[in-house]
Amino acid sequence: MLRVRLSVSVEALSAVEVRKTYHTRGQTPVEALRGVSMTLRKGERIALLGRNGAGKTTFLRISSTLLLPTSGSLEVFGSDVIAHPEQVRPLIAVVPQEGKPFFHLTPREQIYAYLRARGVDREPAKASVSEALGQMGLEAVADRLSVTLSGGQKQRVMVATVIATKAPLLFLDEPTIGMDPFARREVWESLRRLTVQGSTILLTTHYLDEAESLSQRLYVIEDGRVLVEGTASAIKQQVGGSLKVSVANGESLREQLSSFGEIVSDGGTIHLITSPERINDIMAIAMKAGISATVGPVTLEEAFLRIVGRSIHGEEV
Ligand SMILES: Nc1ncnc2c1ncn2[C@@H]1O[C@H](COP(=O)(O)OP(=O)(O)OP(=O)(O)O)[C@@H](O)[C@H]1O
Ligand SMILES: [Mg+2]
Repeated sequence: MLRVRLSVSVEALSAVEVRKTYHTRGQTPVEALRGVSMTLRKGERIALLGRNGAGKTTFLRISSTLLLPTSGSLEVFGSDVIAHPEQVRPLIAVVPQEGKPFFHLTPREQIYAYLRARGVDREPAKASVSEALGQMGLEAVADRLSVTLSGGQKQRVMVATVIATKAPLLFLDEPTIGMDPFARREVWESLRRLTVQGSTILLTTHYLDEAESLSQRLYVIEDGRVLVEGTASAIKQQVGGSLKVSVANGESLREQLSSFGEIVSDGGTIHLITSPERINDIMAIAMKAGISATVGPVTLEEAFLRIVGRSIHGEEV
């Protein structure tokens, strides 16, 4: 009998109902993940957002075969992450949270050694090392021991090491932490280039401008669950308006403005989230009171604060 294998499109990562409870002797167990499901299509750039302790690193560690879940299932390009981690490992590369390069290797040596350990031949490895060093702006320090590098330079080495693999699925846990704004943009550019070439990327970040600029979809994790999922603009639309009016020392106007939209306080400044057609009326109130107000777009950070804030306070999202 002729068997025809249907070519089904395989997701880069498919996670279903992943749970993780950490048990530490003598301590109350920690439910870090309470049923996270997620799908990454090939070539996507996805960001995981969430407060400290939300469960992002736990999810990345489980997805990248470094930690076993308590329950749930995960596949990377159709391979079972729990049953067959050895099939998954060649397909992935990881920048761990707070990872550091080997202090007594130079960036060039570290990246080369890593590629060789992954089975890349000498000449292609050398070429990939040069390319990654160039992309991360590390040429000038490529032959210095990593122990002598600055914090941001060390972090660039971590990212360069993973970028050089060109692995089909990359996990990056806060990859740009400690980097200057130029270096962050170099990372974004390199990651975009990799996905154009077919890689898939899952990253975490607390920089919401980075999440917005870099990723095509976002998952907001809160207390071990997926709180919302979608594009940055879809998530921003959930907060009830596309514009934000900021009024310094505006507490006296709070009551008058509250009918125009949702008010968020930030120190003495109040921010009113509203829609464009209401701006004129709002500005008229501020002017009458002799208080200046500025208008700008709602940022992803504001939407995040609002959406996660609602969840913390038990309101419906
Ligand atoms: N090895 C561990 N043993 C016990 N609890 C742990 C362990 N690792 C993490 N946790 C707990 O699990 C929860 C999720 O932690 P995790 O590191 O996944 O959060 P995160 O979203 O990555 O946070 P951050 O933004 O601070 O990096 C936290 O409550 C944390 O204290
Ligand atoms: Mg983390």
